[in-house]
Amino acid sequence: MVQLTLPKNSRYNDSLGRVYKAPAGAVRVKTFKVYRFDPASGENPRIDSYEIDLDRCGPMVLDALLKVKNEVDSSLTFRRSCREGICGSCAMNIDGTNTLACTKAVAEVKGNVNIFPLPHMPVVKDLVPDLSHFYTQYASVKPWLQTATAATPGQERLQSKVDQEKVDRPSACILCACCSTSCPSYWWNSERYLGPAALLAAYRWIVDSRDEATAERLDELDDTFKLYRCHTIMNCTEACPKDLNPAKAIADIKKLLVERRT
Ligand code: SF4
Ligand code: SF4
Ligand code: FES
Repeated sequence: MVQLTLPKNSRYNDSLGRVYKAPAGAVRVKTFKVYRFDPASGENPRIDSYEIDLDRCGPMVLDALLKVKNEVDSSLTFRRSCREGICGSCAMNIDGTNTLACTKAVAEVKGNVNIFPLPHMPVVKDLVPDLSHFYTQYASVKPWLQTATAATPGQERLQSKVDQEKVDRPSACILCACCSTSCPSYWWNSERYLGPAALLAAYRWIVDSRDEATAERLDELDDTFKLYRCHTIMNCTEACPKDLNPAKAIADIKKLLVERRT
């Protein structure tokens, strides 16, 4: 299981938290303990407790957060969009594991549901991490098709079914950042280590048979920090809510670099 660690700008005191009681008559009550922090307020972070009547709430953790936001405490801040596990925006740390709030069932959590922002990231507010650096790293691997030759006029750049299958799974990444923020190497070296999400994106284009910048892409990654800070701890693959395997992609990139030296 991915270990729970705190966001970067955070020291919280549980005793400062507010408690929002369930409505009278509620039978199936579950407590959601949620990290609250507004850096602009000058106040310390705290953990608020929201007692939710599960008989009047949808089944997912995101349903509970939306219920809190809509009916209990509108100041609670979090990201969400699709509610289908597709946009990646509701990634957070639930019950000690990075995952998507919209696909995490409340019933999977025994006892209180502890909810924190993704670990080791600066917090914008409450459950919203600042992902600017994460996106900059993603952009740095040039996640688009690069070609030198002209395409056949009037025709797409084609590839075989076998070649397409190589990019099929890595292309399913939704950039939720669950993997990178569960990676100890990324926690301590995020300024220079690209992390599993950006490296999976790099891999996706390295193995694309239509791309003509493979050598340049590999040159760019052949770096002590950008790539080789990965120590194959595998937290990333365990954390991925889309069942992708960034650790294997990183290992494959290392293998390609070795092969071209020999
Ligand atoms: S395998 Fe590499 S990228 Fe994945 S968690 Fe471990 S060190 Fe991080
Ligand atoms: S590899 Fe998985 S965990 Fe990492 S950003 Fe993509 S979808 Fe999220
Ligand atoms: S709201 Fe889009 S992945 Fe959860």
